[in-house]
Amino acid sequence: MNKEIVVSGIRSTGKLHLGNYYGAVKNFVQMQNDFNCFFFIADLHSLTTHPTPGDLHGHVKHVLVEYLAAGIDPENTTIYVQSDVPEVAELYLYLNMNAYMGELERSTSFKDKVRANPDNVNAGLLTYPVLMAADILMHKAIKVPVGKDQEQHLEMARTFGNRFNRLYNADYFPEPYAFSFTENLVKVPGLDGKGKMGKSEGESNAVYLSDSPEVIRKKVSRAVTDGGPTSEFQEKPEAIQNLFDLMKIVSTPDTLEHFNDLYNKMAIRYGDFKKQLAEDMILATAPIRDRIQEISADDAYLRQVAKHGALKARESAQKTIREVRELIGIKSF
Ligand code: ADP
Ligand code: TRP
Repeated sequence: MNKEIVVSGIRSTGKLHLGNYYGAVKNFVQMQNDFNCFFFIADLHSLTTHPTPGDLHGHVKHVLVEYLAAGIDPENTTIYVQSDVPEVAELYLYLNMNAYMGELERSTSFKDKVRANPDNVNAGLLTYPVLMAADILMHKAIKVPVGKDQEQHLEMARTFGNRFNRLYNADYFPEPYAFSFTENLVKVPGLDGKGKMGKSEGESNAVYLSDSPEVIRKKVSRAVTDGGPTSEFQEKPEAIQNLFDLMKIVSTPDTLEHFNDLYNKMAIRYGDFKKQLAEDMILATAPIRDRIQEISADDAYLRQVAKHGALKARESAQKTIREVRELIGIKSF
């Protein structure tokens, strides 16, 4: 039986944090047996922020190692580095012809990036969603496991795929949708009291899969809180709600309920609460942390995984490019 196709990737900008894990990678691991999965490391996407040549490869290695440490099985799944599949750049070029300035400029992540880095508004940043659509459409994916922040990019991938189909009068690209095993797409909060966990949000906001237990304890103990509840059953302010949301992800329902009750009775002690949260984070990530070191030291294995993945990904990509060229009308003499 033909399995549904799944594609996802993470931009290689360094180590993976709990947001990346619970928003994306954990789904990768859960999907690999039931779907035909392509999981890649988006090193081309990372070029929008101009990493040094020296840093680039190390960042790719971090992500590859952490995919494997999290439990993605390269025998079951196609794991590859985006730049090992040059066909992606070709499809990106074709899709760019049907992507309009107005819609690209309206993307919220583009607007956020422009606000954060007004001196580096490059065309690659503007067309980031087109490159992402190329990654997805290349393998004709239906499901794309990502966190909540990527939803708009998926909508754009559908737009570009449908537009291509209409232009060339072909029922070629299927519609990809964001996917999560949880009821809603996941948004993991950070430790700094506001918004999501993210690399760009500052070092202390994010807990990394490779952080040691000591580092995790320290980061969680410094997480932003307040003076405590001032009335029973009051609504939690964002910083406190965020810590409860984190606890919901890493702790048992009983633990969550216990601290929720204490909060509602105005008897919570944030010190105890954070200690429990830190220990549960440590426990939830322990098997991954242990394997990161081991896999990271095995360069021969990593080389073999990347090579094998590139072969499989290119086979799928070359078929698509052949068909796309034909639909567009590109012919050799
Ligand atoms: P960052 O925000 O740290 O730069 P990325 O944008 O590279 O992370 O995201 C990579 C993947 O991880 C995407 O699928 C994204 O949806 C997911 N992700 C990142 N941060 C979170 C978060 N805080 N909650 C849920 N998913 C997240
Ligand atoms: N934009 C994703 C991120 O922020 C990375 C990514 C690139 C991606 N291409 C993709 C995710 C295709 C899913 C599918 O990390």
